[in-house]
Amino acid sequence: MSGDCPQLEVVLSRAAEAGALPAGQAATQGRETLLAVAEARKALGPIACEDPGRPHFGKVAVVTGSAGGIGRATAQRLHADGAVVVGLDINPAITQALDAPGLSGQVCDVTDESAIQSAIEGIVARYGGLDIVVANAGIFRSGEMIDELGETWDRHIAINLTATQRLFKHTIPYLKHGLAASIIVVGSRNVAAPGPGASAYSVSKAGVTQLARVAALELAPHRVRVNTIHPDAVFDTELWTPEALAKSAARYGMSVEDYKTKNLLKHEITSAQVAGMVSTVAGPVFAATTGAQIPIDGGNDRVI
Ligand SMILES: NC(=O)c1ccc[n+]([C@@H]2O[C@H](COP(=O)([O-])OP(=O)(O)OC[C@H]3O[C@@H](n4cnc5c(N)ncnc54)[C@H](O)[C@@H]3O)[C@@H](O)[C@H]2O)c1
Repeated sequence: MSGDCPQLEVVLSRAAEAGALPAGQAATQGRETLLAVAEARKALGPIACEDPGRPHFGKVAVVTGSAGGIGRATAQRLHADGAVVVGLDINPAITQALDAPGLSGQVCDVTDESAIQSAIEGIVARYGGLDIVVANAGIFRSGEMIDELGETWDRHIAINLTATQRLFKHTIPYLKHGLAASIIVVGSRNVAAPGPGASAYSVSKAGVTQLARVAALELAPHRVRVNTIHPDAVFDTELWTPEALAKSAARYGMSVEDYKTKNLLKHEITSAQVAGMVSTVAGPVFAATTGAQIPIDGGNDRVI
């Protein structure tokens, strides 16, 4: 099965060398055993790959919210760049969206802490460790003013913020034993430049940004980097339905085409481009960067 995926072969053989059990028996491993396996895997040293086009060769990555949009593009890009990748999403389409040797999806509601814990433990049990975590799952609803907010507020805080802390909680112990380990949080342009009617989203994204900054401080002694990227208006995602796009364009008195490039560079940002940034930030180019916030928004005069 791993024959046409060299990184999967490397990851599985390293896991076996470090003492992980074969996939079928992996579920029986306890947390202490998993940590010992991750530590033993790290002790085997960095994985050599002569192809500079595959900076994540032999690493293990998890991407939340990857049934579509930015998350799916990111999982595919990390895989193309050499990692073995597991995507998690509440949407059952995840299992078909990511389905190739070394690239798989599994259903997981990130607001269910025990589901996150067991997904992460399953990944470590199978692959021997964890090196890259992309906190991407998120929702966006706008149109309610602060004095109207109830359930919308609670959902944003639960999915965008609290679930990210739980993801950190259950991945950090393994990342400390990871290979050039790194966390990337998908924030939003709304953190620096919020708008009316989107307080739940903006506050939740400001919260995860602050969480990432504190995580960068806490994890630097373990050489785990934590960075946040701030995209704006990525239209090839489920977040932007054709109706939402048309409504927003009309609000600005613009055509949909003009609205899509409503930034200083007049550049339409795609999921693939955001995925490229995530992979680069997780890789050696950014080896000396932690606690950073990097926009990918075509240039925004309220952010600059
Ligand atoms: N598209 C944009 O314009 C834009 C701009 C800035 C930031 N972002 C951020 O990018 C991230 C990805 O969003 P996208 O634009 O690709 O939209 P998307 O809707 O295509 O992707 C979000 C994914 O998160 C998943 N998800 C939602 N709730 C979940 C839960 N409880 N458990 C597990 N998975 C869950 C969804 O099923 C979906 O697959 C989000 O955090 C979003 O806030 C998007």
